[in-house]
Amino acid sequence: MLSSMNTAPRCTFAIISHPDAGKTTMTEKLLWFGQVIRETGKVKAKDGNYAKSDWMEIEKERGISISSSVMSFPYNERAMHLLDTPGHKDFSEDTYRTLTAVESVLMMIDSAKGVEAQTIKLMEVCRMRDTPIVTFMNKYDREAMDPFALLENVEKILNIQCVPMTWPIGSGVDFKGVYDLRTKQIMSFKDAKDPFNPIIIDAKDLDSKAVIDFVGPKLLETLKEELELVGTLIGDFSIEEFLHGIQTPVFFGSALNNFGVKETLDMISTNSPGPKPREVKLAPFESDSPTQMIDPQSTTEFTGFIFKIQANMDKKHRDRVAFMRVCSGKFTRNQKIYHVRSEKELKIPTPLMFQAQDREITEEAFPGDIIGLHDTGKFQIGDTFTEKSKFMFTGIPNFAPEIFNKVILKDPMKAKQLEKGLQQLSEEGTVQLFTRHTTGEKILGAVGALQFEVVKYRLEDEYNVNADYEGYSFVGVRWLKFENEKDQDKFMANNSSNVVYDHKKRICFSVRSEWDLKLVMEKNPNVHFFKNSDYR
Ligand code: G4P
Repeated sequence: MLSSMNTAPRCTFAIISHPDAGKTTMTEKLLWFGQVIRETGKVKAKDGNYAKSDWMEIEKERGISISSSVMSFPYNERAMHLLDTPGHKDFSEDTYRTLTAVESVLMMIDSAKGVEAQTIKLMEVCRMRDTPIVTFMNKYDREAMDPFALLENVEKILNIQCVPMTWPIGSGVDFKGVYDLRTKQIMSFKDAKDPFNPIIIDAKDLDSKAVIDFVGPKLLETLKEELELVGTLIGDFSIEEFLHGIQTPVFFGSALNNFGVKETLDMISTNSPGPKPREVKLAPFESDSPTQMIDPQSTTEFTGFIFKIQANMDKKHRDRVAFMRVCSGKFTRNQKIYHVRSEKELKIPTPLMFQAQDREITEEAFPGDIIGLHDTGKFQIGDTFTEKSKFMFTGIPNFAPEIFNKVILKDPMKAKQLEKGLQQLSEEGTVQLFTRHTTGEKILGAVGALQFEVVKYRLEDEYNVNADYEGYSFVGVRWLKFENEKDQDKFMANNSSNVVYDHKKRICFSVRSEWDLKLVMEKNPNVHFFKNSDYR
């Protein structure tokens, strides 16, 4: 099936949500509409609610489910690539990186709760590339917030204009369905179980007998008032503003009951952009090196970058897969490609493409496609591949960690193995490695605590190193950019105990408290502080 999609335009997207808002349920329904799976409830176990001790199960599942890292299906004459993101918030660094490889995002909101913490963080990442966002207000079959309040909640917290495409009629036990603001039809929730053949009521005339009979007088009165307000308060949907991440089209429904899912998928497949031009940095790849754009429309040279590396925790299936996003040109199996960081040419004899639960060797891949490369430790997150050009894609940064630990080595004879293990695991994106400027001490930084558990286990299992942790009093790091050498020397001299280097030897400031950071920033107005290593 994948090869039959070769000429179809690509639509590469991901779902963002706070755990429990319904991402897994929605993923399954999208695959069902894409006719990749015949039954729902089969894709994978729900992964948002593990207890801490279950980290290994999560890792194993992530490893084993490498195949579900990219779920491809044809829809509306497009090749849809849905990139999976971990449900557990402790692995959200993986999600951040995956978001650098997509062209659009589906945002799931739990309609009873509104915007939650994790969604705010993920939205910050989407903002870096102004990624277009389609919004789904989920769980309308349960008691939900008033729709206006919900839209205001999203607009205020996430700073994006909401333009409803459908409007809910009631919620919870009173949920009747939605009014489609574009077609002026009512779609009945009663028939949600057969979403391919929903009951549709023509509602151009809201006083028609069919509408009154279906909605009932009380809810109809509310609906009329609300639709009038929508008409006066909310502007029209603009595709341009959607494409720039300024507006988000909003759908109300229930993923669990297949309700509103098809309309959402129709919106994504019709309006989400295909592969867009991407920025590259020219040699010597410093923060101030010149940049240029690689446009998939006009660039025939094959280019791509690695955004994720997934190791398998199950010894029976020991392999590691690096996920490459194709950005321009055509990738062909066994063609010689140039690995820019190592300046070496290599061949990929077994490039993988993914379907819902399967992987297969592919002969070719096109812009927007994701291919899996077997990795023996050669590849790093952010690595660029070309045919011969020497440039590197930007926009695949490290994101500021929030928790830190010092590594305590139990057997001092294993210092070399520890160093190698930490370097490799940080290149793979499992954890971030920092070195203190003054003492040379190694410090690990992570977004979620479970990342540390994974590192400890893998150090022992793969590098034969027994290590422990001691908490460290940082609360964050900021990547630094200086305007000149004099500023840099002065800053380093005055703040030496707070200076750390990341695994690529870039200079960072370790944050001990937000207050501290504020003071240092005020004292050094010429120094630029960034929350990610791309200096954005
Ligand atoms: P996540 O991946 O974002 O963490 O969310 P997931 O899809 O696992 O959904 C979280 C819970 O919310 C699940 O219930 C799921 O069935 C439920 N849910 C998802 N969409 C809807 C919806 O439209 N309406 C209602 N009423 N519930 C919804 P659970 O009880 O935690 O798990 P399960 O035993 O049902 O799988």
